[in-house]
Amino acid sequence: MTTDKIDIHRGLADVYFDRTESSFIDGKEGTLLYRGYNIHDLAEKSTFEETSYLLIHGKLPTRSELDAFDVDLRSSRAIPDQVVEIIRAIKDSHPMDVLRTATSALSSFDPDAGDNSPEATLRKGLRLTSQVPTIVTTHYAIRDGREPVAPRNDLSHAANFLYMFKGEECDEDTNQLMDKDFILHAEHGSNASSFTARVVVGTNADIHGAITAGIAALSGPSHGGAAEGVMKMALEIGEPENAAQYVKDVLARRDRVMGFGHRVYRAEDPRARHLKAGVKRLSEEMGQPKWYAILEAVIEAMKPYARRGIHVNVDFFAGVIYYLNGIPEDLFVPIFAIGRMPGWVLQVLEQQENNILLRPRLAYVGPEEQAYVPIADR
Ligand code: SDX
Repeated sequence: MTTDKIDIHRGLADVYFDRTESSFIDGKEGTLLYRGYNIHDLAEKSTFEETSYLLIHGKLPTRSELDAFDVDLRSSRAIPDQVVEIIRAIKDSHPMDVLRTATSALSSFDPDAGDNSPEATLRKGLRLTSQVPTIVTTHYAIRDGREPVAPRNDLSHAANFLYMFKGEECDEDTNQLMDKDFILHAEHGSNASSFTARVVVGTNADIHGAITAGIAALSGPSHGGAAEGVMKMALEIGEPENAAQYVKDVLARRDRVMGFGHRVYRAEDPRARHLKAGVKRLSEEMGQPKWYAILEAVIEAMKPYARRGIHVNVDFFAGVIYYLNGIPEDLFVPIFAIGRMPGWVLQVLEQQENNILLRPRLAYVGPEEQAYVPIADR
């Protein structure tokens, strides 16, 4: 069977499969707009709650719209005791596997279970956006032998996540940097996890199934797992003067330097710079300036790759921010998932609005048709 005349796009690279109003990415220029608003404006002037409203409803909210949205989010943070028991039963699993399993289990307790109307999907999506941080921190406490810290509804999304994680309130700077991190991770077009969620909803399956599948896709190091990989790399490098040799060895092995490269960006990922300042400030405040120096040394060592379109991406600085906040590396990808929730909800709602089954093809290069031989004659 010849496939010579078939135009194959491995990895679906540069294939446009639908239209979207969610986000615009110019990979050449390094531009990212959420519903037409520049990520540079949102990162510096918005909040996770306001950006989530923008992504899901398609416009910046008025004060009263944002307050009502925020009340909804804050009142949906609890998770059923039965899901806490499921988390307890699998407490030694990787936090992303626990998040995937607990998210799936939530569908059995959701008041809108079985209702796939756009209104119910939106209500389920907002509940999940609020419950995902609680799943992550509940698991973190249980595997540490402690009772989970109950969510509070007098704190913002980011402040409440850090409160449930640490068991005490963090200072405003720390809360704001985590809020900015969530904004920067909130949405990114048809990345692997969002595309996965669309494929699931494309069959008219529900949002819990779509987001469970998206979490599974995000857990891979080529997608969400990079922040964990960057921190591991920084710890292995140890001191800034070791960075150049370390990078040389990685590239010589034809391995990937974590936190670098992107399927779409050929210029610097516009999200990276907003976390870079956070790493610099945090590592100086914490008396550990070497982490910023190590990341800078890796960027220096990767400069020759810039002309091949390989630059830092959103994950390069995020990992050190989490590490300096005392967050263990295996919780880095779950934090990415917390940020990406509004993007997944938006992609699911948009797919549902004008739904179509997503079913690409494979070009067959297997054996020509052949006669079946009974086993006795083989
Ligand atoms: C995210 O899609 C999204 O939008 C994702 C994301 C989002 O917000 O959802 O932006 C989040 O996933 C960011 C990416 C996080 N992953 C990493 O940082 C892991 C390291 N990066 C690489 O695995 C890689 O850059 C990918 C997977 C991100 C992109 O890979 P591509 O587009 O499939 O490119 P490729 O792997 O085919 O590489 C093309 C060339 C290769 O050279 P050749 O083999 O052709 O000679 O570029 C080289 C690669 O060797 N290259 C790298 C590199 N990334 C690409 N070389 C060294 N280090 C790297 N990081």
